[in-house]
Amino acid sequence: MFVTKNKKSILYLGMQKLTEKKLTALDAKFEAQKIAFSPIVFQTVISLRELGILDYLFDNSSEVNIKDICENLNLSDYGVRVLLEMAECANIVEYVNNDRVRLSKVGFFILNDELTRVNLNFVNDICYDGAKSLTECIKSGKPEGLKVFGNWKTLYEGLSQLPEKNKKSWFEFDHYYSDDAFPTALEIVFKNKPKYLFDIGGNTGKWSFACCNFDEDVKIKILDLPGQLNVARENAKQNKLLDRIDFHQIDLLDEFQRIPQGADAIWMSQFLDCFSSEEIIQILKNVAQATNSETDIYIMEPFFDNQEYPAAKYSLTGTSLYFTAIANGNSKMYSCEAMKDLVRKSGLEVAEVFPLIGHSYQTILKCRKK
Ligand SMILES: C[S@@+](CC[C@H](N)C(=O)[O-])C[C@H]1O[C@@H](n2cnc3c(N)ncnc32)[C@H](O)[C@@H]1O
Repeated sequence: MFVTKNKKSILYLGMQKLTEKKLTALDAKFEAQKIAFSPIVFQTVISLRELGILDYLFDNSSEVNIKDICENLNLSDYGVRVLLEMAECANIVEYVNNDRVRLSKVGFFILNDELTRVNLNFVNDICYDGAKSLTECIKSGKPEGLKVFGNWKTLYEGLSQLPEKNKKSWFEFDHYYSDDAFPTALEIVFKNKPKYLFDIGGNTGKWSFACCNFDEDVKIKILDLPGQLNVARENAKQNKLLDRIDFHQIDLLDEFQRIPQGADAIWMSQFLDCFSSEEIIQILKNVAQATNSETDIYIMEPFFDNQEYPAAKYSLTGTSLYFTAIANGNSKMYSCEAMKDLVRKSGLEVAEVFPLIGHSYQTILKCRKK
């Protein structure tokens, strides 16, 4: 069973016995095969979903005859069987006998769980094709996989121009992680009743509109790249909020573009993870020059070390590689301590930490200028 390359491999396996007690060598080899075939398993899941096989299994929840799947979905016996046989190995379906199958618990979650749905679509529609360039990206520090979509320096320059299906998956992914935090975040931010709030990296304006609904007096400035700012302006128009929201086009990678002064509160949600450590310091210094010691500066991030469930940490560390291969080549999801350190290095201090874990993925760092 174990074909090792040389004596060094045998020695290595022997040494590992001392450290990895829980996993047998057989188990480890099986895990390694799961990784080797993971792109195939992934596309099997996408096909099972796109062809309606998962839906069919769910709708007929007890067990289903493979012949019925073929007849009802107009698919060949060959096609259905190759997908289901892989799905069984990946614990997505269970065989009752050679001809009858049912959906497993994993299959149920693939079909019905929202975290799984947005992650699958995001990986398939945004990351999958470009991820092949990962090695090059690590060497060059550039998002080589972004070429799949266009010749931009970062994904954010071209986000509004992505094909509709891919754009939808990106937005659903982005919103999924931030939306649940909004109700508690609004309570925190509006405790000091800011009159003028700057939403940096405000994107479609979702948070800004929530602020306007929450507090009838607040005025907002959304700061973002031109593509996103146009979308936010159009959305604000539709929400009849143009009298309360103004828009400031800015590229925060350009150190000469200054954030304007005048905010009572500054909000940055899932924004700083779009930048490298050095760029974050540059941006936070830009924030510092625009504020005084009374301005509340809020950073909301899904820190990977501040999660309740391993599935959340897994999703977030996977997201880092999206930044590497597709988004910009140099950013990542950060740990809470790493972000606090960057805040301090920028001349700001963390005044309070609000871990919103329990009902969301996010933690808010409330910061002030020293
Ligand atoms: C991941 S989205 C976060 C959106 C929103 N704040 C949220 O929490 O869902 C990051 C936002 O930062 C903006 N952004 C990225 N790079 C930027 C840059 N160099 N200058 C200004 N905004 C930028 C993007 O356009 C996008 O709207």
